[in-house]
Amino acid sequence: MTEKIFYKRMGQGKPLMLIHGFPLDHSIWNETAELLKNDFDLILPDLRGLGESAGVDSAYTATDMADDLAALVDSLGVEKIALAGHSMGGYVALAFAVKYPYRVSSLALVCSQLSADTTEKREGRYKTAQQVEEEGVGVVADSMPAKFSSNEKTQNKIRDLILQQNKNGVSGALKVMADREDSKSFFALCDFPVILIHGGADELIPVERAREAKIILPSARLIELAGVGHAPMMDAPEKTADALRMLK
Ligand code: MLT
Repeated sequence: MTEKIFYKRMGQGKPLMLIHGFPLDHSIWNETAELLKNDFDLILPDLRGLGESAGVDSAYTATDMADDLAALVDSLGVEKIALAGHSMGGYVALAFAVKYPYRVSSLALVCSQLSADTTEKREGRYKTAQQVEEEGVGVVADSMPAKFSSNEKTQNKIRDLILQQNKNGVSGALKVMADREDSKSFFALCDFPVILIHGGADELIPVERAREAKIILPSARLIELAGVGHAPMMDAPEKTADALRMLK
């Protein structure tokens, strides 16, 4: 575990961890968490190197991020937990479930996917990581917000959040995504309840990825949010909370 994984804990009920995506922090869940606090014991971590969590100098993987979360859950005395991961947070949730399947009570992938990167995508991420290391997070803050949402308020929030991130954490997260494993064969065998929540207008990870996941695991419930982009927890918090209540 890195020296310090920051987390926020609120509410009561069954434990549910809300894991943020790239290159953001736990605060993307704020509105949705308010709506869920009477249903769940919510744990909202900042992934390693992002938000208020410490980074590490050496290279790391999605499994290392998942190990941080397992150590956090241990330190809180929680044995089994529901996981909801947004986008990159979904990659980390999958890595957690691969390594600690007996600790997962249910899983929600929010605007995420099972496939690994193509070679081209992977190379692009490494180039961006280098650019971030040399020039700072501005390159990501300029390019990403419009892909998250067509809502200007959400775009501004995302931009501000990206600009607050540490460049080493952003570059580290890009490499985590580039090097992640394909999760399809694991996913096909999941024996805990799974929910796929996806924005119908997601420009970063198209809704087809969630439809493919549903074909791989037919027992998964697929909730498509029409007209919503890559940030349903910010643009459609009520609908996102309604969907996540199915994890209860
Ligand atoms: C995210 O929102 O976490 C990332 O955009 C996901 C990705 O690029 O694969």
